[in-house]
Amino acid sequence: MDFRRAIAELLSARTGLPADTLEASVEVPPQFELGDYAFPCFPLAKTLRKAPPAIAAELASKLAEGAPFLDRVQAVGGYLNFFLDRGVFVGTVVADALAAGPRIGATEEGAGKTVIVEFSSPNIAKPFHIGHAFTTILGQSVAKLYTHLGYPVVRMNHLGDYGTQFGKLIVAYGRWGDEAALLEAPIRELLRIYVKFHDEAKADLALETEARARFLALEEGNAPEMALWKRFRDLSLLEFARVYDRMGIAFDNYNGESYYSDRIPAVVDLLRAKGLLEESEGAQVVKLDEEGLPPCIVLKSDGATIYASRDIASALYRKETYGFYKNIYVVGTPQALHFRQVFAVLKKAGFAWADDCVHVGFGLVKFADRKLSTRAGEVIFLDELLAESVAKTREIIDRNAELRGTDMSEEERAEVAEKVGIGAVQYMFLRNGRDRDIVFSWEEMLDFDGETGPYAMYTYARGRSVLRKGALEGASAADATPEDLARMGGDDEAAVARLLYGFGDAVHRAVEANEPFLLTRQVAGIARAFNKFYNNESILSAPDAGLRRARIALTEAVCTALKTGLDLLGIAAVERM
Ligand code: ARG
Repeated sequence: MDFRRAIAELLSARTGLPADTLEASVEVPPQFELGDYAFPCFPLAKTLRKAPPAIAAELASKLAEGAPFLDRVQAVGGYLNFFLDRGVFVGTVVADALAAGPRIGATEEGAGKTVIVEFSSPNIAKPFHIGHAFTTILGQSVAKLYTHLGYPVVRMNHLGDYGTQFGKLIVAYGRWGDEAALLEAPIRELLRIYVKFHDEAKADLALETEARARFLALEEGNAPEMALWKRFRDLSLLEFARVYDRMGIAFDNYNGESYYSDRIPAVVDLLRAKGLLEESEGAQVVKLDEEGLPPCIVLKSDGATIYASRDIASALYRKETYGFYKNIYVVGTPQALHFRQVFAVLKKAGFAWADDCVHVGFGLVKFADRKLSTRAGEVIFLDELLAESVAKTREIIDRNAELRGTDMSEEERAEVAEKVGIGAVQYMFLRNGRDRDIVFSWEEMLDFDGETGPYAMYTYARGRSVLRKGALEGASAADATPEDLARMGGDDEAAVARLLYGFGDAVHRAVEANEPFLLTRQVAGIARAFNKFYNNESILSAPDAGLRRARIALTEAVCTALKTGLDLLGIAAVERM
């Protein structure tokens, strides 16, 4: 039930004004003591030809009649303050959550509006480092959030599988490549020779020239270069797939930069035909002075294509193929200028849909005080990071098992550690606004009592354990009658219900701002409120059978919301931990 709407309808019935207009003015007061909702009567003064305090007083005396969800309505000055009946509120929220199940907060408002979410997009032959972890985890959540609101979502992985660096790799592999090492650990070997190339190129300038020549040969489709490039690509993809599988991520396509290379001539023709291409120091550029942006280079002076031209071709392809409603790029904030240039070129070329292209940026990940970069060779591999998190989680689980005893098998412990360890990493990336830099800390991330993934997951498992015990005694959430549910008028129950009630709104706000952390906060809030309730009240040994049924239902509603919430963040809940 939508209480704001219900209040607007009551007001509409009494004033004859349209409910939609009234609804927009129904506010949530800053403090609970002022009621659950408030309505300022000032805008009604003109139509009703009365002073706002008089309107408020008159309406207050009539509104609560025949509206069982209202406890009372107070007139204070020109304001109406609405106090919901606690029991009815909690009961309704719990019943609605149980009816919705995993679709809690879901809608169909996005039906027919395709949203492209491009995320992850690692570079072939380079490690999938922790900076890529951010786009991967953030992008997966953004994609899931849109899906929850009914948008058809296309998940694209714009692989960095093209560009001059492949000329370098081809040269480097010819000189220093180790076949056995390549098969054993492809990306590590490719990174090794890439770093070596840069070291050697400082002294030997001919290397860079040769690399450029090899890249041009690749662009022309020369067989030996093509074969090596394809090998690097295939081997890299296999490594990426391992990380994706572990995090439950799948893409609809892997059309990387190379995919667009033969569409560049058409892009060049199009820009030329519109009179947008100009020569600048031998390169072909689109000037963006009026936008206050530096020129966008489309072709380099040697005729080679460039990152930006491939992005222009890719945007055109996406529009043609998917007719998108929104085209989202989840890419680090350092590339903000690049995307502004690409979108500005499209706009200048007359494509109004350039405005539907959105760059969703994010901050840096800092680990022990250094910025992560591949060029310097100082990298933390995501697979290693996940493995370490899982190992540390396993230690905590084993320690707890020793302290408290457990009947979890070896196998179950391993499975739980895998999910919780990975969930902890995912949660950390989605805990704050995406523009904030992340400072990595194991203690913080794995704190089972802090605002962490393990804490939310633990709360879910705790709720499930209560429900399993209840089920053994023959009790289930479905047994609770509306009368039972309406008996939950306590502060702790109401606090849980308020957060459950806000779940759908949190999903909406997260989608509007492309900010999953707005849902993370809700999930954390529900977990905290439920634990408080759990510590202060008895569930299975509630004072009487009716209240026991009601609290079991509340527990089930919390579990449903936590599970769906975690899933929307990309995290798989565990039944026990
Ligand atoms: N491969 C690039 C990188 O790792 C990110 C690609 C971003 N997507 C795009 N359409 N340009 O930095």
